[in-house]
Amino acid sequence: MKRRFFIKAAGAAILTAGTATYFVSDKKGIVRTDVEEPITSNIGFRPDEKKILYLASLAPSGHNTQPWLVRYVGPYHWVICNDKTKWLPVVDPNQRETILSIGAFIQNLEFSASQLGYSCQFRMLASSNQDKELMEVLLRKQERQPSYDIQKIVLRRTVKSGYIHGSISKEHIHELTSPESDWFNYIPIESKAYEWINEQTIEANKVQTNHDEAQAELAEWIRFSNKEALSKCDGLTTDTMEIDGLPGWFIRNFYNKKLVMSKSFRVQGIDKIRAQVNRSGGWLLLSSKDNSTESLIETGKRFQRVLLEIRQKNIAIHPMTQTLEEDKYRVELHNTLGILNPIQFVLRIGYVEKYPGPVSLRRSVDKFIFK
Ligand SMILES: Cc1cc2nc3c(=O)[nH]c(=O)nc-3n(C[C@H](O)[C@H](O)[C@H](O)COP(=O)(O)O)c2cc1C
Repeated sequence: MKRRFFIKAAGAAILTAGTATYFVSDKKGIVRTDVEEPITSNIGFRPDEKKILYLASLAPSGHNTQPWLVRYVGPYHWVICNDKTKWLPVVDPNQRETILSIGAFIQNLEFSASQLGYSCQFRMLASSNQDKELMEVLLRKQERQPSYDIQKIVLRRTVKSGYIHGSISKEHIHELTSPESDWFNYIPIESKAYEWINEQTIEANKVQTNHDEAQAELAEWIRFSNKEALSKCDGLTTDTMEIDGLPGWFIRNFYNKKLVMSKSFRVQGIDKIRAQVNRSGGWLLLSSKDNSTESLIETGKRFQRVLLEIRQKNIAIHPMTQTLEEDKYRVELHNTLGILNPIQFVLRIGYVEKYPGPVSLRRSVDKFIFK
């Protein structure tokens, strides 16, 4: 967003509405710590089950749709399912991103279970991205000591601003991607391809922003007021979009879906993207063996394993998916970079000075589990 526009508009709104209105407005946005997990549940969870599922749900997902459901087969025996009502049919018509997000959920689940002393036995059930039942999982208590630092899962977040402009050190790229480096391509800011991907990203965003159906789909997932954010506990809030101060206040209190469709909102969105791509440590591309559902789950897990290791290195990652969502740009990306395997993630990567805490909301476990 253009700060000046919002500050002017917010100032005018305060003057018109009066300072009394300001004090009863959504002055601050709702963040994760404002939401309490309900204690009651009709599932009858055994020890650790709910905690493992909650930690799994801290996985990232496109537009924060949280497209997972879990069928409770019995104690420590679940089926991870695909929630059709959370798909993004316009920008993700084949549910590629849905499955990648569920892959990240499965990786969190595996690490959380391990920290609480369980090993997971997985069985792939799905043969297509649209199948409801994706993966069966059985948890078995282990004798050995917990082996994963859960704080990595709790503190992970997508960071979009405050990047330092400078490439990532070779050591850090090596530590993050090995032993799976075959799937990664790091494009440092000194390389020619860096500027080219910047331009492609801006252009793909322009195409998508001018696509009314895609913009309307985005509007459906923006949680404007705190009331809406608290009742749904998903989607994009002003805090997850990193719109703070007066501009954030203005959006929480005066914005609606119709305004997301306005020309000025679209133009400001592109300006923000341009500023973001011009400040980073380069691009990290993640590809997969093929486009099968199994490979997408594996890639979502691989993506999450990297995300969980970046915070302690003061590295941030921002998925920018539009070059993959718009066919023309995806084909050009492969052809120009000479990458034969399907690219599944285009990640803006960079060092940050300050690492903010997580803010995106999550639905409670009771909302995504069923018997
Ligand atoms: C498959 C996938 C695609 C995503 N694409 C984008 C994107 O294009 N732009 C963006 O700003 N964030 C993108 N994200 C990040 C999500 O918006 C973010 O994970 C979600 O809002 C939850 O926030 P958190 O990661 O801080 O928990 C993507 C995440 C996933 C898993």
